[in-house]
Amino acid sequence: MTRTDSAETTDEAAADLAAEAALLEIAEELGLSDLLDGAEPFTLEQAADLAAVPAPGAAAYLGALVSAGLVEQAAQGGPYTPVADLVDRRYRAGYLSWALNANRPYIDHAALFLRDPETAGGKYARDGRRVAVSSRWIGSRGFYPGVVEEITSGAPRRVVDLGAGAAGLLVRLLRELPDSTGVALDLSAAACDEARRAARQAGLADRLDVVHRSVESLADDPAPVRGADVVHAGFVLHDVVGRPEVLDGVLRACRESLAEGGRMVVTDAVPYAPDPRERAFSALFSYLHASSMEVDLPPEQVWHEAFRRAGFTEVSSSPQRMPGSRVFVAAG
Ligand SMILES: C[S@@+](CC[C@H](N)C(=O)[O-])C[C@H]1O[C@@H](n2cnc3c(N)ncnc32)[C@H](O)[C@@H]1O
Repeated sequence: MTRTDSAETTDEAAADLAAEAALLEIAEELGLSDLLDGAEPFTLEQAADLAAVPAPGAAAYLGALVSAGLVEQAAQGGPYTPVADLVDRRYRAGYLSWALNANRPYIDHAALFLRDPETAGGKYARDGRRVAVSSRWIGSRGFYPGVVEEITSGAPRRVVDLGAGAAGLLVRLLRELPDSTGVALDLSAAACDEARRAARQAGLADRLDVVHRSVESLADDPAPVRGADVVHAGFVLHDVVGRPEVLDGVLRACRESLAEGGRMVVTDAVPYAPDPRERAFSALFSYLHASSMEVDLPPEQVWHEAFRRAGFTEVSSSPQRMPGSRVFVAAG
């Protein structure tokens, strides 16, 4: 049975998606995601070593991946090869992972978040690693390609990513820009750990610095963005957009710190996008941000105005694959 005549085209498509998401989350937990991304054959011993688990356990898990069609094994006892579309399938799984797992505290305590958001927010935080990892999975196809194309077109020497999470974007950028350096800045210690791990794993530790700080702090001390050719911010500035004086301070600090001809690239989401392609995920994204994160996502026009207030003279925006996402480019 080929994949196209399997559950993908039926009502049971959700069964495939849910199973693949859970199996790929297990791979992430076992530290096997990079091995699966490599698209190269690997042995049972390699997987067991990487995951630091006994070989029979690793064999059971890999057997499940083979059975699910995520990995192939030509001969019993032989090497395993990830299927060609594994990264596309992880991209799809990312939406499920983000919606149901990264946001679990907001779902479990939905009533308290509506009754008393301040108490709920103080008590029930999301797991930074889950947010960072599921964002990376969605980003892999949902917005990294457009952002990478936009950023690499200017051949920047130094790129700073604000709210970099697991540094998925920077790893991808620095692989394409072998003479460039990057800075990953994030407020979450767990996300910073994940970014350091990703940099080491990709052999980029000497070109990728990780800075554990808030974006707000840049207004007073812009050292991390100084001399950058591109400052990117992905789904992080909406956290400060409700505080215009803070947003203005951060955008101004970035603009003044950019190298000659530098650009600011912001990937973010607009609220309740009505297009049928975008509406469902955009609705969940907008609702959770408003109800549980005290973030009212700003419409496109509000972003344009903020960039202009900070002194940028050329501002444009374009939609990306992730429902509701837009990339803003500010220069001048
Ligand atoms: C939704 S994730 C996006 C991660 C990454 N930019 C991506 O697109 O894959 C937002 C990230 O911003 C970080 N973050 C949230 N508020 C922040 C703040 N005020 N300063 C710095 N980082 C922040 C979070 O820890 C998280 O890693």
